[in-house]
Amino acid sequence: MEFSEHLDELMICRLDSTKKEVEPCTVVIFGASGDLTARKLIPAFFHLFQDKVAPDPIRIIGVARREKDHESWREELWEACCRFSRTQPVERQDWEKFAQNIFYCQGDYGSDFATFERLKSMVGEAEDERLRNNILFYLATKPSQFLDVTAHLDESGLLLRDPDPPFWRRVVVEKPIGHDLASASALNQGLTKHAHEKQIYRIDHYLGKETVQNILMFRFSNSVFEQLWNRQAIDHVQITVSEDMGVGGRGGYYEEAGALRDMVQNHLLQVLALVAMEPPVSLEAESIRDEKVKALRSIRPLSLAPIETQVVRGQYVGGKVHGEKRIAYRDEDRVAEDSNVETYVGMKLYIDNWRWSNAPFYLRTGKNMKAKCSEVRIQFRSTPNVLFAAQCGTKLDNNALTLRLQPNEGISLRFNGKIPGSTMQIRPVRMDFRYDSEFGAYTPEAYERLLLEAMAGDATLFIRGDEVEAAWSIVDSIREGWSDQPLTEREFYKAGSWGPDAADDLTARQGHNWREPEGGK
Ligand SMILES: NC(=O)c1ccc[n+]([C@@H]2O[C@H](COP(=O)([O-])OP(=O)(O)OC[C@H]3O[C@@H](n4cnc5c(N)ncnc54)[C@H](OP(=O)(O)O)[C@@H]3O)[C@@H](O)[C@H]2O)c1
Repeated sequence: MEFSEHLDELMICRLDSTKKEVEPCTVVIFGASGDLTARKLIPAFFHLFQDKVAPDPIRIIGVARREKDHESWREELWEACCRFSRTQPVERQDWEKFAQNIFYCQGDYGSDFATFERLKSMVGEAEDERLRNNILFYLATKPSQFLDVTAHLDESGLLLRDPDPPFWRRVVVEKPIGHDLASASALNQGLTKHAHEKQIYRIDHYLGKETVQNILMFRFSNSVFEQLWNRQAIDHVQITVSEDMGVGGRGGYYEEAGALRDMVQNHLLQVLALVAMEPPVSLEAESIRDEKVKALRSIRPLSLAPIETQVVRGQYVGGKVHGEKRIAYRDEDRVAEDSNVETYVGMKLYIDNWRWSNAPFYLRTGKNMKAKCSEVRIQFRSTPNVLFAAQCGTKLDNNALTLRLQPNEGISLRFNGKIPGSTMQIRPVRMDFRYDSEFGAYTPEAYERLLLEAMAGDATLFIRGDEVEAAWSIVDSIREGWSDQPLTEREFYKAGSWGPDAADDLTARQGHNWREPEGGK
């Protein structure tokens, strides 16, 4: 259905009209030679520049150990942009204009304090005082280097806790923030020794996705759904983030992380928090983040029941995905042949608050699954068991609302309709809204939005220290429950399936079943 066809007038309500202009600034990227810089950061800055939304002027300084000068780094980045830009082909002329703002600072940022002195003098060379005083430090480094770099920035006087207004200094930290609650708390404490919490921007690129941001808009701007968003109307919620690829070349990393740390701790719990949170008192970052933390802290402790009745893990064995052969996880490069690392997690959580009491939230994520997709399915309660429900039994499907985050971004509503004809037959039909058909193709990279927000000083889409810790405490309690037990037979799943059999038990205990995602491909 095309909604716009039925609208006489398009009502556009700007929510960011009061947002201040993004001030000219210098962005310092630690990890200039890295994969993240080449694949995501520089293409994102380039697009912001092309779209004329980047600060003007802007200056980007990259720091890494390899010997190179400004010109050779620019050439490297040009090649990266040609490969990874979302708009192709990249115009050399546009690039040349952008590249004038890019500079390279060679040095070791782990042990060599002189690097920071060199960097300071480079920053100080700018004529425009805003470029000298507004600085975004982007830590595209190994997590083990976050603290050293921040401490050196502080010692060198580059990262001022209280810069003279209206100037600012901010630090962007990449994931992962710790590997458990203790390490995340230690990192947060370390960071806040050198910067105020409000200067720290922890990235989860999932929050930069348009459709994830839309969850809040959708919930709180539509009275039809807002009134139904509770346990009285909703039977349960399913959140699926599935990948159709295996671990590929990242076996070494994955052996340390596993799906629980890699996906649940951040992306899935972030989506859960947005779906479950109470309305914030305002659209200010702190109000929204307060409510997200409250939702995470309301999750029923997993220690109250045997872990296997609440969380299922799985690991893929050989199979086929989209007709393509896939090897077992244990046969992947740099994976132990008796590895018990989970490539799948399915879980049932309860949020013990007034709104959600006893409505299960099922979350699942996995690698080498049947299709790639991220979506939230809100499964409504059934109608009273009289009239149609009494006659049709389980064939009368409950209404469901699906928020498709990726791919085929959009929202659909399933309800029952009568099949035309002389007999009384009912079947589910679907009302579907698709972003691309309504608004045209608009697929800015999540990093573009996040970088812009960080430069504008809006922390809404970044994760506060206490949010990270609340999520880790959930993940830690699951790991404790698993306590190094080897995987059982029912926890292995064929590549190309929707996960292990054990995951079906999880939903079946409540009389539910996992639904085939709508948007997967
Ligand atoms: N890649 C991604 O898509 C991605 C996605 C999400 C999160 N992340 C996170 O982003 C961070 C960076 O990832 P990455 O994949 O870009 O890593 P990477 O490819 O290993 O790049 C890090 C770069 O930092 C430089 N470096 C390392 N130690 C240094 C030191 N002591 N002094 C100066 N420079 C040093 C290295 O360049 P030199 O050898 O020239 O010094 C290296 O190229 C990690 O925390 C990762 O978890 C990455």
